[in-house]
Order: sequence, then structure tokens, then C-alpha cells
Amino acid sequence: MKLCIDHADAEAIRRIYEYYPVDGVSTNPSILAAVKRNPYEVLREIRKIITDQGELFVQAVSPDAEGMVREAKHITKVLGKNTIVKIPCTPEGFKAMKKIHAEGIRLLGTAIYTPMQGILAAKCGCEYVAPYINRIDNMGYDGVQIAKDIHDAIQKNGMDHCGLLAASFKNSRQVLELLKYGVKAVTVSPEVMDGFVKNAAIDAAIAQFTADFEGLVGRNKTMENCE
Ligand code: G3P
Repeated sequence: MKLCIDHADAEAIRRIYEYYPVDGVSTNPSILAAVKRNPYEVLREIRKIITDQGELFVQAVSPDAEGMVREAKHITKVLGKNTIVKIPCTPEGFKAMKKIHAEGIRLLGTAIYTPMQGILAAKCGCEYVAPYINRIDNMGYDGVQIAKDIHDAIQKNGMDHCGLLAASFKNSRQVLELLKYGVKAVTVSPEVMDGFVKNAAIDAAIAQFTADFEGLVGRNKTMENCE
């Protein structure tokens, strides 16, 4: 299982990387726009934080396949190893994916609302496909179920080169349902990541441990200095 951050603010990424076991950072044009700086300036900064080891997902924005191919080459040239180009799962996107895949550039199929989008992207050579869980839920369908269907169809049809980077989560339950199912990867906002362990019961348990221990050996004592 891989766990990524769906965000582009350097400070937020630094903090999340410090505390949690994170494998990479995913962005999209709206996420980059929210930072209100030049996209490459921001992406270079993120690359420094996550090093060459981290996977960095960057979306092409051209309306036509030829433009997407040119963008894919430029994105990977600038941002280096472990950069994966996100291409929307549209007819023009599929046309681009086949060409980009032939160039040996790693791909993710994005903007996925239907199972067939994900299946076609896998067949075009994508290493990841990104169903939008909460956006699908908001349309009145079952985002988790659609993601599971894509996962199953990819596996049952021998397309082992591809797996999910499930995206657009709004709560821990959506994430947990897919991790229990064994999807390849999920990407979540810093808020959803913090929410994994934000719980009054956890805080109360820690406070009780501290109170009991300090009652035994004195204030601010720890196992390092209580002998
Ligand atoms: O990157 C795509 C996806 O993560 C979008 O998430 O929160 O805008 O639905 P959201």
C-alpha cells in the first residue's frame, strides 16, 4: 500500500512528511492554482522535500493529445525520476497515453468517474488510475464500489502493471474500505490524513497515562530520568 498527499503547499507537505509514512505527492491543476505561485517553482520545491525517492504526480492540461505528449516529456525532464504524468481519461487522453507510454514515461489516468475509464487507461499503459471517490459519492453513486470494480477488472484481465491511486477522499472510512480491499495506493489531503488519528479517545488515553505516571514518579519525569 502506498500513501500519498494530495496537496501542493510546501509547508503542509513538510509537516505531513515529518509525521506520517508517506510515499509521494499528487497534484492537479486546481491544487496548484490554490498555491498561487508558478507551478514549476512549487513542484521543484516539492521535489526537494520528497527527494528523488518520492513519487510526484503532475497533470498535463493541453486540450489535445499532441500537446499532452509534449507536456509529458517536459514535466518528466524538469522534475526527474519518479515523476508520473497524470492524463485525463477522455478520448484525447487515451490517444495521448498510448504515445506517452511508448516513450517510456510513467502514467496515471485521472478524472475517473466510471469503471470503463479506468479499464481503458490501464489498457493504454497507465501504471495508476485515479477514481474520484467522494466526487462520485456526491453524484449519488458509490465511489468505493466503483473503485473496487476497477481494481477487480484490472486484476482479472491480467493488467498487473496497473493499480489504483484512489483520490478525492473526504473521510477515513472511504480510505479504510479501499485499503481493506487491497488497492495499490491512495492519496489524501492533509486534513483527511490528520483525521486518521484525530480522536478524543486517543487524547484521553494518552492524558491518563501521563497523569498516572507523573503521579508515580513526579511531574515531567519520563522513563529516561525517573530512577
Ligand atoms: O486530484 C484529484 C482528486 O484528488 C480531487 O479531489 O477533493 O477535489 O475531489 P477533490
